[in-house]
Amino acid sequence: MEIVVMPKLGFNMDEGKLVAWYKAEGDPVKKGEPLFSIETDKTAIDVEATQDGVVRKLLIGEGDVVAVTLPIAVVGGAEEDVAGAIAEAEAKLASLKQSDFPAASPGIATALPNANAAGIPQQGLDLGVGNPDYEFDVFVVGGGPGGYVAAIRGAQLGLRVALAEKDRVGGVCLNRGCIPTKTLLRSLEALDAVKDAAEFGVAGLDAKKAALDMKKVQARKKAVVDGLVGGVEGLLKKNKVTVFKGEAVLKDGHTVAVGGQDYQTATVVLATGSEVKGLPDGVIQSKKVWTSDTLLSAEKLPKEIVIIGGGVIGVEFAYFLNGAGVKVTVVEFLDRILPPVDAEIAKRVRRDLEKAGIAIHTDAKVTKVTDAAVEFEKGGKTEVLKTKDVLVAVGRAPVVPPEAEALGIAVERGAIVTDERLRTSVPGVYAIGDCNGKTMLAHKASAEGIVAVENIAGQGGVMDYAAIPSAIYIRPEVASVGLSEEDAKARYGAVKVGKFLMLANGKSKVEGDGRGVVKIVADAQYGEILGVHLYCLHATDMIAEAVTAMRAEATVEELARAIHPHPTVSEAVMEAADAVLGSAIHC
Ligand code: NAI
Repeated sequence: MEIVVMPKLGFNMDEGKLVAWYKAEGDPVKKGEPLFSIETDKTAIDVEATQDGVVRKLLIGEGDVVAVTLPIAVVGGAEEDVAGAIAEAEAKLASLKQSDFPAASPGIATALPNANAAGIPQQGLDLGVGNPDYEFDVFVVGGGPGGYVAAIRGAQLGLRVALAEKDRVGGVCLNRGCIPTKTLLRSLEALDAVKDAAEFGVAGLDAKKAALDMKKVQARKKAVVDGLVGGVEGLLKKNKVTVFKGEAVLKDGHTVAVGGQDYQTATVVLATGSEVKGLPDGVIQSKKVWTSDTLLSAEKLPKEIVIIGGGVIGVEFAYFLNGAGVKVTVVEFLDRILPPVDAEIAKRVRRDLEKAGIAIHTDAKVTKVTDAAVEFEKGGKTEVLKTKDVLVAVGRAPVVPPEAEALGIAVERGAIVTDERLRTSVPGVYAIGDCNGKTMLAHKASAEGIVAVENIAGQGGVMDYAAIPSAIYIRPEVASVGLSEEDAKARYGAVKVGKFLMLANGKSKVEGDGRGVVKIVADAQYGEILGVHLYCLHATDMIAEAVTAMRAEATVEELARAIHPHPTVSEAVMEAADAVLGSAIHC
């Protein structure tokens, strides 16, 4: 006897529509015969019976949509007693049918007055787009990678777009985040090349004298940042986006004020970003602590530093500062560094950082920071680290415009609540990027900006949050997409894992760094790729292949059979996919 369930045919498949039954109740069925046909948002497919028997009960009808893994039929022997199984399946179907179809974002369904009963959002003309009473179709508040991308895409779609920015366009990412940190790391790479030169057969360089000249490092950083900011300004101009320099205040869903002047707009896109989070009140008793913002502009580095927080910022700065000759200690509250990263990868990163000379304390709660020391509690004891310099890297908090809640914009846990179309609870007001509290990453903000304005323009489309890559810039690099091994196991039970150690990768050896691993987590039944985790050279570039594969709902077999060029580091992805299938050649 078998309870037939709605199969999960893809990573993003949460439900399927039963298009046709090929058998009626009482019909005999043979293993391998088509039993029913289903349709997902991507495909239509016939599903075969997995055993011989008689169709004893069809639990759902043609046209019904049910969540994956819910029972849809019972197949058993002609005389077999299946009454209990049918009752159990019917009860499960009845109890889960409701709860398995939550709104895309919990809590948003009731908060969204502009979604009609059929769930169709108000878009385009409904929102007043094109109405001459409004000066603009979209007013974007904030010019970071969310806001400026939304503005340009809106203009491409023929919308009348305004953007207000109180600082420089490009936001934290371009001015105080992604780009500046990477220029600093590039300088460190140049320093490391000098230090490693002799090993590669380069004579005549004095590695002992090599050091970073931070004034020049900062000058180079400034040139790169200024060039890119200029590029964004040029793009906004070219696309005829009206740019206001100043702080925008939302007066109501259709009025934005900048510099004392009101502007009428059909819609608003809030893209106000995030700000550095501090430690609880009373912990910091020192006048001078570094934040990522201030340390990024330092023209003189401290001799030693304690970094509070072993998240992405803490680890990237620890890596840079240690490489630049600073004595670094990291103090992390949790029992591991890099909490969202696959546990095995985080463990390897920790080992390599410690080998490079960075001291790391985990399970350590910082209780006091003075001008001369950092105190933390670990295992019931208080420990003291003497230091004059401290970097606080304990996270970032969304910036929610102070007027938002009074206007009825729902805010939960300090972030603006949005649905998968980036709508807030006020019709016509959207929120994208860090201010909505979902993964704080520049590329997520840009993708949301595009989805938001395409909805405003009436094109629809929803955000796919399942395949957002993340990257950590140390050496070797860390990059991942999808579920960690532990999260995949928690969600799906049995999963298959394939790994490839980089010490067996030819190109990594050529480049002089065989550390790290590539790891693929796949669905045990269908081979669907659930997560890809890279800790290797060029990981942050290579992860794009995994994102594309997951977006296309490719299986590990497709990744393993895709011919990768040799010699490249990317071959490790193919080999890890082969390892899932048990057919890896080099491990
Ligand atoms: P985070 O949330 O990634 O890490 C903060 C860490 O501080 C956590 O591990 C937390 O447990 C720890 N912590 C909190 N309170 C503590 C205490 N009292 N004592 C010791 N440890 C404590 O935040 P982070 O690293 O500041 O980054 C902020 C945001 O910026 C993140 O969302 C991150 O994804 C993003 N970002 C992304 C980058 C990238 O993609 N390469 C680079 C930099 C930042």
